[in-house]
Amino acid sequence: MVDVILGLQWGDEGKGKIVDYFAPNYDVIARFQGGPNAGHTLYYEGKKIVLHQIPSGIFRENKINLIGNGVVLDAVTLKRECESVAAFGVDYKKSLFISERTHLILPTHRAIDRASEASTGIDKIGSTLKGISPAYMDKTGRNGLRVGDLLDKNFVSKYIKLRLKHQKLLDNFAFNEDISSWEEEFFEALEFLKTLNIVNGEYFINDAIQSGKKVLAEGAQGSMLDVDFGTFPYVTSSSTVTAGVGSGLGIAPHKIREVIGITKAYCTRVGSGPFPTELLDETGEQIRVSGNEFGSTTGRPRRCGWIDLVALNFACMINGVTQLVMTKADVLDNLETLKVCESYLVNDVETKQVPFQMERLKMEPVYKEFSGWKTNITAIKSFSDIPGEMEIYIKYINEVLGVPVKFISNGPGTDQIIVAP
Ligand code: GDP
Ligand code: IMO
Ligand code: MG
Repeated sequence: MVDVILGLQWGDEGKGKIVDYFAPNYDVIARFQGGPNAGHTLYYEGKKIVLHQIPSGIFRENKINLIGNGVVLDAVTLKRECESVAAFGVDYKKSLFISERTHLILPTHRAIDRASEASTGIDKIGSTLKGISPAYMDKTGRNGLRVGDLLDKNFVSKYIKLRLKHQKLLDNFAFNEDISSWEEEFFEALEFLKTLNIVNGEYFINDAIQSGKKVLAEGAQGSMLDVDFGTFPYVTSSSTVTAGVGSGLGIAPHKIREVIGITKAYCTRVGSGPFPTELLDETGEQIRVSGNEFGSTTGRPRRCGWIDLVALNFACMINGVTQLVMTKADVLDNLETLKVCESYLVNDVETKQVPFQMERLKMEPVYKEFSGWKTNITAIKSFSDIPGEMEIYIKYINEVLGVPVKFISNGPGTDQIIVAP
């Protein structure tokens, strides 16, 4: 059977840590979408590691880590990442597998991403500039090159043909940076990629399921960045929700069992777009500092705000979430008062639904206030030891979402996790 772990907010919920925590219970850990726009942090032997392309089960022994067909792959990032995990003794030649249907991010995709963002001025998406949107555009536009194409003797001529198409776009944007060094490292990385385990991903994973292996599908980004259900156009370019597991790995829907949704105890967003509960005051700054809320991929400061139960309810509905993990609860340790958004006022009418195109509306969150716990919770191991105020906060979230918080993360460390009864 297959379980899924995904983010319910605007990304960076702590998926890396939580996937690493759950990985020992599974045989296969598979990324189903996204690309190097993701930055998934975990700790191994006390060292901080940020993974962009490799699934977060890579440090667990005897696991298969699969990069699924729904992912877009930057070979240069992958090569670098393989080298960095190898330095910790990981034998990626044995534990890492890549679907032949996975689309490649080309140097020109990165250039187009950059040129396109630069041309939009204040309307920019705030993309990570990793070439994600142009790569997915070439996938749906049926132009893209896939990992399996590397073994085709016509690969270079196909590349040149596509590069010429991209050049026309770049000329339109008046983009004239020299990307020849990007191309050089790209072709070098492709040679490396060819030496890895390239598999027919959908047979590979279904055979594993058939033989009784347990699969954990690892999401990237978050539900509110989903290309269909997120705050379009301020979204990423893939299906970040449970439905993406089907198309991103070739798994039938009825094989999916648990959907483990991750939410921070508050909320963050990096990049542009609507964020109803954003705090532009001192409290927002306090959360940013104590939560070290700076992007794992780009280093940009993350926008911080209160937990948004309207958006979370929507995410639970779209994903069919069966259990919740609440991360970064410790970040709220010093706050006197906590707020929880339980509805929105849209043009002065109260609603519990996420509206179409929030940024065009006059919108205000409606909050319920809770007392903060004002206790350092980072060393707590047992649910029975959590402060009363925290229990009230969590109970309320359970009730409103109708899905239980089963795990509470109280620090970045692998062992900083409290299991709820
Ligand atoms: P991901 O993209 O969902 O994997 O999340 P990121 O790795 O981008 O960002 C999460 C950040 O929070 C990382 O720096 C983690 O080390 C850190 N983190 C994860 N869980 C906790 C927690 O419970 N408390 C604190 N203080 N930090 C955490
Ligand atoms: P993880 O997996 C947070 C955001 C970008 C931008 C928008 C589009 O670490 O949670 P893109 O590069 O995909 O075209 O950018 O999506 N974004 C993320 N924000 N966490 C991520 O990944 C993100 N990946 C993309 O900031 O607003
Ligand atoms: Mg991240």
